Amino acid sequence: MGLNASPVAASAGPINADSAADRERTVREILATLGSRDTLLAGEVFTSVTTNLREVSARKLLAIMDIGYGRSLGVSCAHCHVTTAWESEDKPQKQIAREMARMDSAVIFGYLANIKHLKSERPLVNCTTCHRGSVKPALDMR
Ligand code: HEC
Ligand code: HEC
Repeated sequence: MGLNASPVAASAGPINADSAADRERTVREILATLGSRDTLLAGEVFTSVTTNLREVSARKLLAIMDIGYGRSLGVSCAHCHVTTAWESEDKPQKQIAREMARMDSAVIFGYLANIKHLKSERPLVNCTTCHRGSVKPALDMR
């Protein structure tokens, strides 16, 4: 390691590079099966989308899955999904992710929106704010 560390290892940080390649390939495969339906709303294309992700395009939902969810937690799609049945609810992490999204909204609209003198006009939190590449957010600066 040290000076001879490869650029890939050096830039990967806490994020699992294998899971990134895996996610990218999986998104490409699903996009190929969707064909021109990729621009339809996720709520029309997929059967088990129950949150406001219904309102984004199918392509955008997949980008959020890859970057917003997978990369934020440093995991492959399989952490939350049975990858032979994307609509399946068998993995508890999928429902946890929905409740985490609800928590984010509660923080944004129920708390941040009411704190005066913040730098941002619309201050936000998202999955990355806490997870930063790990399934279990840190409790110290290690
Ligand atoms: C942290 C958990 C998590 C990760 C990681 C994740 N997903 Fe999801 N995914 C979800 C949740 C939650 C939903 C349902 C959202 C809703 O109800 O609005 C979902 C929905 C979907 C759907 C729609 C399924 C259907 O038929 O209704 C697809 C397709 C999908 N994800 C693909 C992926 C792909 C591809 C990856 C990896 C690039 C991935 N997901 C990574 C949590 C995750
Ligand atoms: C305010 C901080 C915070 C935010 C924001 C947050 N999480 Fe979490 N998340 C946690 C904590 C804390 C845990 C529990 C870790 C533990 O088990 O001790 C957790 C656990 C999880 C787990 C379970 C992981 C596992 O398999 O053990 C999933 C899945 C998850 N979060 C997804 C998300 C998603 C998706 C988002 C964004 C929509 C998100 N989280 C936003 C703090 C957060």
